[in-house]
Amino acid sequence: MSDSNLRFYQEICTAFEGYLVANKPTLQNFDPPFDPSFKFETAFWEMLLNGGKRFRPKLLLAVVCAFVRSPQRIKRAFPIALALEVLHTYSLIHDDLPCMDNSPLRRGHPTLHTTYNETTATLVGDGLNTYAFELIACSKLPSPLKVCLVATLAQCGGVRGMVLGQALDCHFEGQELWRAQLEELHILKTGKLIAASLKMGALISKEFSKTPARLAQTLFDLGLLMGLFFQVRDDIIDATQSPEQSGKSTQADGLKNTYVHLLGLNGAQGYLATLQAQLLERLEILPPALKGYLTHLLESLA
Ligand code: IPE
Ligand code: IPE
Ligand code: MG
Ligand code: MG
Ligand code: MG
Repeated sequence: MSDSNLRFYQEICTAFEGYLVANKPTLQNFDPPFDPSFKFETAFWEMLLNGGKRFRPKLLLAVVCAFVRSPQRIKRAFPIALALEVLHTYSLIHDDLPCMDNSPLRRGHPTLHTTYNETTATLVGDGLNTYAFELIACSKLPSPLKVCLVATLAQCGGVRGMVLGQALDCHFEGQELWRAQLEELHILKTGKLIAASLKMGALISKEFSKTPARLAQTLFDLGLLMGLFFQVRDDIIDATQSPEQSGKSTQADGLKNTYVHLLGLNGAQGYLATLQAQLLERLEILPPALKGYLTHLLESLA
């Protein structure tokens, strides 16, 4: 892929970051009397502004950039890319709560329940979850497309996907799962949302340009494998990196079902390499621009 093509995609990703920062919602609350100790509006967007890799919006934008060349049109996908990051961020805020993984650090900053309290962190998560769907519903895309996007995000981010994965993850703490069960767990809690990101990119692209037949399904299936790769890599990060390196609490998976526990560190690293090779092979059949953007994204994780 040409350098200018890759630069085009990177500029879109940079513009998306600006969009995220500029689109912190303002919340109305009764006034007067205004109580300065009510910090909910700041807390609401804080974890989004604290960074993160933006992996899911970048996946969606990779697909859209591969098929749609007009920056104006690509930017119409920004609210949808933001919806993915917003829903993902809610999942992190709830994942860190004392009743789940009990983590004090996320994205290089104290978690919301540490800075504020559990009530605030729970409600910020609740608010972000529904706000993701508001972003899609209120975007300026055709309504039939918006219904498909809402359905995909709800199915993958909700009780048929990420939420069910999180429920299994927490329930089976301290109880060793078989390998096939662990794979299913990782695909649910992480794979489904990553698959949704690629599929949603395909659904938007189809609206604006000609795309290969079955693109959405091909990318969804690829996304499940990518999500498994992503979570195996995350298990290894917990075992090998410091909080300073990863920006989050590590050595914290003691009771969790992870590939490091199941296969040992070397075994997990070997499996990660196998998954990476499988992924790169699956990218070969994609149109060159899409293959290039996704390869670049995967390399940026290394
Ligand atoms: C962490 O997600 C939780 C998992 C699903 C493994 P990310 O690794 O994408 O976290 P951020 O968004 O970069 O903070
Ligand atoms: C969480 O997996 C996946 C989510 C759906 C949030 P982890 O619990 O392993 O994620 P980290 O390691 O805290 O980021
Ligand atoms: Mg967890
Ligand atoms: Mg966690
Ligand atoms: Mg983890």
